[in-house]
Amino acid sequence: MLPQWYINYKNKVGLFLKEWFANTYFKDKISSGILKRFLEATEYGFDGGKRFRGVLAMVGYWIWKSNFEEVMPWAGALELIHAFSLVHDDMPELDNDTLRRWKPTVWAAYSDWEALLVGDNLMMLGFEMLSDLQDPKKIKKLLKLLSEAIGVKGMNGGQYMDVWYELHPQDITYEILKQIHAQKTWALIKLALVWWAIIAWEEEILCKLEKYWELLGMAFQISDDILDVTWTVEETGKSVWWEQKWYVYFLGLEKTQELLKQIVKEWTDIANQIGEDKLVWLIEFMGKRKG
Ligand code: IPE
Ligand code: IPE
Ligand code: MG
Ligand code: MG
Repeated sequence: MLPQWYINYKNKVGLFLKEWFANTYFKDKISSGILKRFLEATEYGFDGGKRFRGVLAMVGYWIWKSNFEEVMPWAGALELIHAFSLVHDDMPELDNDTLRRWKPTVWAAYSDWEALLVGDNLMMLGFEMLSDLQDPKKIKKLLKLLSEAIGVKGMNGGQYMDVWYELHPQDITYEILKQIHAQKTWALIKLALVWWAIIAWEEEILCKLEKYWELLGMAFQISDDILDVTWTVEETGKSVWWEQKWYVYFLGLEKTQELLKQIVKEWTDIANQIGEDKLVWLIEFMGKRKG
C-alpha cells in the first residue's frame, strides 16, 4: 500500500504533466488537425505509472526547501524522459510487449511508427519542460547531467547492452549485468536524487548521498527483476518475462531476494542517519513492491 504522502506527490506530478501539456499543446491551433491524434498518443504515453522518479525529486525538495514551487518542471521532465524510454522499450524491435501500466502499449494501441515518434516527442518534451526552471545555473547543470543520463553513458547505452546481450547470452557476465542495470535504470533514478544536492548546492551532501542512491538504483532494478518472475500480469499491469531477467538468471530467485533484503537493510541504516521517514519508506517499498 502506498502511503498518503506518496499518493499526494504522485497525483501532483500527474496533474502537473496533464495541465502543462494541455496548456502548451492542446490549446495551440496545432491540436485541431491531424496532429491531434499525435498529441493524444503522446499523452497516452506519459499517462499513469508510479511516478517514482518525480516523487523522488519532490522528496529531496521537501527535505531542503519544504515547498514544491520550483521542483515541478524537474519532476515532470524526469517522468517524460522515463515515459519515452518505456514507449520505445516496449516496441516490437526491443522487448515486443503489449501491456504497460494496465493498458496496451503505445505501439499496440496506435501503431509501430507512431510509437517511435511518440517516444521522440516525449524525450523532446522533457527537455522543453526542464527549460521552465527559473534558475539558469541549475538548468545548465541539469541539461548536462540529464543528457549524460539518457545517452550512451546512461540509459540508451544500457538499453543497447541489454538487447545486445539478449541476442548474445553466452557472453554475459555478472559484472556486465551490473553495468547494464547501472546504466539503463539507475542513471535516471540517480539523477532524481542528485537534484537534492543541486538544490542544496553542497558537494558534501553529494558525497554523503552517493552510497544511498547507488543502493536505491540497485534495489529498484533487482526488485523489478523479482517482480517479473514472481508476479502476474494482473498484479504488475505489464507484460512479464523471466528469461531475460538477469539477476534471477545469475543468482537464482532465492539469492536475488536475499541480496535485495541486504540492500534494504543497508539503505534503512543510511536513511535513518539522514533522519527522514520518507526515505526509510522509499527503500522499504523496494523490498516489497508489487508494481
Ligand atoms: C519500469 O519502471 C522500468 C524500469 C526502469 C525497471 P517503473 O517501475 O518506474 O514504471 P512505471 O513508471 O511505474 O510504469
Ligand atoms: C525498461 O527496462 C526500460 C528502461 C529501463 C530504460 P525493462 O525492459 O527492464 O523493464 P520493463 O520490465 O519493460 O518495465
Ligand atoms: Mg527492456
Ligand atoms: Mg521491457
